[in-house]
Amino acid sequence: TGKVTLDPGFTNTASCESGITYIDGGEGILRYRGYPIDQLAENSTFLEVAYLLIHGELPSADELDAFVTRVNRHTLVHEDFRTFMGTFPRNAHPMAVMASAINALSTFYPESLDPFDDETVELASVLLLAKTRTITSYVHRRSIGEPLLYPDYSRGYVDDFLRMSFAQPYMPYEADPIVVDALDTLLILHADHEQNCSTSTVRMVGSAHANLYASVAAGINALSGPLHGGANEAVLSMLTELKKSGDDVDTYMTRVKNKEAGVRLMGFGHRVYKNYDPRAAIVKKKAYAVLDALGARDELLDIALRLEEIALNDEYFIERKLYPNVDFYTGLIYKAMGFSPAMFTPLFALGRMPGWIAQWREMMKDPSTKIGRPRQVYTGATERSYVPVGNR
Ligand code: CMC
Repeated sequence: TGKVTLDPGFTNTASCESGITYIDGGEGILRYRGYPIDQLAENSTFLEVAYLLIHGELPSADELDAFVTRVNRHTLVHEDFRTFMGTFPRNAHPMAVMASAINALSTFYPESLDPFDDETVELASVLLLAKTRTITSYVHRRSIGEPLLYPDYSRGYVDDFLRMSFAQPYMPYEADPIVVDALDTLLILHADHEQNCSTSTVRMVGSAHANLYASVAAGINALSGPLHGGANEAVLSMLTELKKSGDDVDTYMTRVKNKEAGVRLMGFGHRVYKNYDPRAAIVKKKAYAVLDALGARDELLDIALRLEEIALNDEYFIERKLYPNVDFYTGLIYKAMGFSPAMFTPLFALGRMPGWIAQWREMMKDPSTKIGRPRQVYTGATERSYVPVGNR
C-alpha cells in the first residue's frame, strides 16, 4: 500500500487546496478571498464577510440586501426547538449545549440536508447563519436563567443578537453603537482561518458526505478545546486567577517557562503565525475602545498588558516566536459587554460559522475530494496466538 509518511499534528501536510483564506504566518498576513483582514474589519460587516467567504466575491448592494433579508427571516426557531433548548441542565457548559443544538437543527429542517443540491446547500447555509445567532443568545439567556426572547426582524444581525442576549422582556433596548461595531468586528476577525483544527474536522466529517449541520456540530466540539477556541475562556481564567491569588506576573511567567504541567501562557503562540497575529492587533485596539466607552476599565487588562510586555521581551518567547493570538484580548471585550467566560467560545463559534460553511461547500464542489482517511505507522505487537482465559 505504498510508503507512509508520519506527520503528527499535520505540521507539514496539506489536506486540501483552498481559495478561501490566505495566511502568511511569518509576515502576519491574513486575507479572506484576497481582501486584507484589516480592510474588512474596518469597512465591512459580518454578513457581508459571510457572503464573501461563501460565494467568493463581495456582494452587490442588491445581493447583500437579499442575503441579509433572507438570513433575518430565518432567525426565529421552531417552538419545539426552544423547548428542546430548555431541557439542558442550567449549569451545562454553553459550548456543549451549542454543539448539541446545532446538531439538532438537522432534525428540525430535514428538507435542507442534501449535500449535493445547490439550492438546498444554500438554504442550509442561511439557516445555520440565522439559527446560530438565535441559539447563541439562548445559550446565554439559559445560563443566567432569563427568558428567551424572540428575534426582531427590523434590527441588524449583531444589534438584534445583543438585544436578544441582554434586553429585559417587553423593555426597550438600545445597544451602544461602539459595542455593536466591536462585536461585528470580532465576528469578522473570527470568520475563517483556513485549515485549523475545527475547520479540518468539519471537512473530515463532510468528506464522508455527512450533512452540513452534522459536520459543523463536529467542528464546534473541536473548537471547545482550550488549545483552540477554548483559549479565550482559558485566558480569562488565567488573568482572574492572577488577580485573585495576588501572584505576581513574573512568578507566573517563570512557571510557564519551566513548563510546569498544564501551565502555558494562554492566548499566546500559534501553529502558523510566527509573528504578531494580525487579528490580535485589531482586537487589542477594540478592547481599549469598548472598555473606555463602557467606562469598564478592567484591572485584568493591565495584567494582560503586563504579561504581553514581559513575553515580547523574554528570550523564551522570542526564541520560539510566540506572540499574542486572537484569543488573548477578546475575553476582556466579551466580559465588558456582559458575557460570562463560558460564553466566550460560543461567540467564537458564532463568528467562525461562515468559514466552516464556506470550507465545507468548497470541499463538496472539489472533484479531487476523497473521504478523509489518514494512514498510521503501526507500533503494536507482532502476530501472537490467542491464550484461553484460564491459561493467562
Ligand atoms: N506558552 C508557553 N510555551 C508555549 C506556548 C504558550 N502559550 N505555546 C507554545 N509554547 C512552546 C512549546 O512548549 C514549545 O516549546 P519547545 O520547543 O521547548 O518544546 C514551542 O513553544 C512550540 O510549541 P508547540 O506546542 O509545539 O506549538 P504548536 O504549533 O503545536 O501549538 C498552540 C500551537 C496554539 C496549540 C500553542 O501555542 C498553545 O498551546 N498556545 C496556548 C493556547 C492558545 O492560546 N490557543 C489558541 C490558538 S489561536 C486561535 C485558536 O485556534 O483558537
